[in-house]
Amino acid sequence: MKKIYEFTNRDIISIRGFTREEIDYILKVSRMMEPLAEKGSDMLRGKVLAELFFEPSTRTMLSFQTAMYKLGGNVIGFAEPGVSSVWKGESLADTVRVVENYSDVIVLRHPLEGAARLAAEYAKVPVINAGSGAEEHPTQALLDLYTILKYKGGIDGLSIILMGDLRYGRTVHSLAYALSLYDVDLHLVSPDLLRMRKEVIEDIKGYIKVTEHRDLMEVLPDADVLYVTRIQKERFPDLGEYEKVKGSYVIDLNVLKKARNDLIVLHPLPRVDEIAVEVDSTSFAKYFEQARNGVIVRMALLALVLGAIK
Ligand code: CP
Repeated sequence: MKKIYEFTNRDIISIRGFTREEIDYILKVSRMMEPLAEKGSDMLRGKVLAELFFEPSTRTMLSFQTAMYKLGGNVIGFAEPGVSSVWKGESLADTVRVVENYSDVIVLRHPLEGAARLAAEYAKVPVINAGSGAEEHPTQALLDLYTILKYKGGIDGLSIILMGDLRYGRTVHSLAYALSLYDVDLHLVSPDLLRMRKEVIEDIKGYIKVTEHRDLMEVLPDADVLYVTRIQKERFPDLGEYEKVKGSYVIDLNVLKKARNDLIVLHPLPRVDEIAVEVDSTSFAKYFEQARNGVIVRMALLALVLGAIK
């Protein structure tokens, strides 16, 4: 494969740090990782990944671990700050300056926006943002793109709906920025309280066609991809506001009667009640495959950042 860009030792903080060509290259390397996810590899033997998770995670934390083990590397870290010296008052800056001595790459999840960028300023090893408050989740956006590519054969020309909590959901911020590099029609569907942040819409609307809707039915019949998100209860400053929007949208078989047969439904997960369980066994549902693709794409990212693939 022809080398296009330099990824070795690169921080992955925001999807906005990538060009379309770089993202396409990551997706190509991800495809190369599919057989290695089955049979394993020694590509990262001797390398250590440190996971610093200041917020709960199932998919991101475990798929990074699986990716590292599949490539022959090792993993250290903590799944919540209460079991680390953060509990005693150690700063994030000091934590990464210590952990860089034990590892070759740091994967950080933190409730504060800007935390991953700050960590990258202090760390000598590359830092990968595994979710920074309501701001961004760049590796999720890459696996979302990979999933769309896998099931739709391409990204250009698609009609894509982002639905749900577009205000506090970090995955939709990163995905909207990533999709703005492609030729797509983007439809944002949410209750008024959960509309996409104005600055994100301003940033992307110069590149792609973006429309906002309250009613999913205005755009569902022509859509190729429906990306649903959970209402991020934990990020509401006022739980009274959460109560106003809780349960305000549910994708079920009745809703999907209006969709094309080849629609794919994605969700970064975890879900609460926004996709009915009855959808899981339909051909629309691709969200569990999407979670599996997290391993594939994170294998590619680790191999690139650690210089095993140039
Ligand atoms: N999609 C996602 O970030 O899931 P986790 O919070 O379980 O990592």
